[in-house]
Amino acid sequence: MTARRRSGNSTDAGRARHIPVLLAEVLASLKPKAGETYIDGTFGAGGYTRAILEAAPCQVLALDRDPSAIIGGQPLKQEFGERLTLIESRFSDLEEAAREQGVVPVDGVVLDIGVSSMQIDQAERGFSFMADGPLDMRMSSAGTSAADVVNGAEEEELADIIFALGDERRSRGIARGIVRARGESPITTTRALAEIVSRAVGGRRGDDQHPATKTFQALRIYVNDELGELARALGAAERCLKPGGRLVVVTFHSLEDRIVKRFLLERAGKESQGSRHLPPQSVKLNAPSFEIVNPRPLTPSKEELAVNPRARSARLRAAVRTEAPAWPVDENLPGVPSLRG
Ligand SMILES: C[S@@+](CC[C@H](N)C(=O)[O-])C[C@H]1O[C@@H](n2cnc3c(N)ncnc32)[C@H](O)[C@@H]1O
Repeated sequence: MTARRRSGNSTDAGRARHIPVLLAEVLASLKPKAGETYIDGTFGAGGYTRAILEAAPCQVLALDRDPSAIIGGQPLKQEFGERLTLIESRFSDLEEAAREQGVVPVDGVVLDIGVSSMQIDQAERGFSFMADGPLDMRMSSAGTSAADVVNGAEEEELADIIFALGDERRSRGIARGIVRARGESPITTTRALAEIVSRAVGGRRGDDQHPATKTFQALRIYVNDELGELARALGAAERCLKPGGRLVVVTFHSLEDRIVKRFLLERAGKESQGSRHLPPQSVKLNAPSFEIVNPRPLTPSKEELAVNPRARSARLRAAVRTEAPAWPVDENLPGVPSLRG
C-alpha cells in the first residue's frame, strides 16, 4: 500500500482527497518549462499531471494501466485540452506510446510507483484486507488475478513469492496454510485469505501491522509484475529522454528503490560494467547515459508527513540524461527477483 489512502470508500472521494506525494520535490526535479513535453507514467488521480500543466505552458502525455484512472481523468483532459494526452497503457510501454504520439524525445519522465487510493478504496478491486472483496488485485483488470495465483501456484512457488516480494519470514507456513485451505474450497475473497494468513502466523504480529500485510503486498506486486514493469520503464525512459531531459521516480518500498538506485548508479558509470564470465578487455563499456541529481533519495519533510503520514516511506530519485546513447536492453532486469517462468 502506498501513501495515498486516507479514509472513505468511493473512487471519486478517493480522487478528491488524494494527496500527491513529494509534489514540490517532483516539480523541482522535473523543472517544467514552456513548450516542453513530459511523460507522467502513473497518472492515478492526476495530481502530478495537473501540477506540471499548471507550472508552465507545456504538454503532458499521461499513462495509466488502470482504465478507471483514464475515465476519472477526463475532466482534467477537458480542462487542458490538447496540452494533455491521456492513454491507457503500461509504463513499460511508454516508449511505444510516446513514439505513437510523436513526442520522442521528451524533456522529462516521472513515475510514482504503487497503487492509488482509488484502487485501494474499492473493495471490489480486491487490494485490501480491510474490506471484503473478490481476491483480484489487478490494476489493469486483465490477466492473472490474485485468486488464480493463490489457488493455482505450487506451495513452494507461493512461499517464494511471499518471501521474495513480501519479505515475510513466515512464508513457508503461510503457503502451507493456503494449500491446506484451498484443498477444502477455493480461496476467492480478501477476507478469506486474510484469515488463512492470520491463522498461519498465529494471530497478531506484536506490532501495528495486520498479519496479512506482507502477503497481500507480495501478491499485489506479483500479480501486476510491478518490479519488472519498473525495470523496463527505466530503460524505456532512457531511450525517450533528450540530452538534459529529467527522470524522476518516486518509490514506496525498498525493492522498488533498489531497482531505481541500481539502474541510476550503473547508468551514471558508478558501478562496474560487464559480465563476470568475460575477460575485462572483451567488455565494451557504455558511456554514462545519466547524471545523478541527488545521490541520496529525497524523503518527505516533517510538514508533509504531518499532513500525509502515509507518505513516510516515499523516496524520490532524479537524474539528468546525458548526450550518450541509451544502453542496450538488459533482459535480465537487474534487481528484479526471478520468480516468473
Ligand atoms: C500512486 S498512483 C499515482 C498518483 C499520481 N502521481 C497522482 O498524483 O495522482 C499510481 C498509479 O500508477 C498506476 N500504475 C501502476 N503500475 C503501472 C504500470 N505498470 N503502468 C501504468 N500505470 C501503472 C496505477 O494504476 C495508479 O493509478
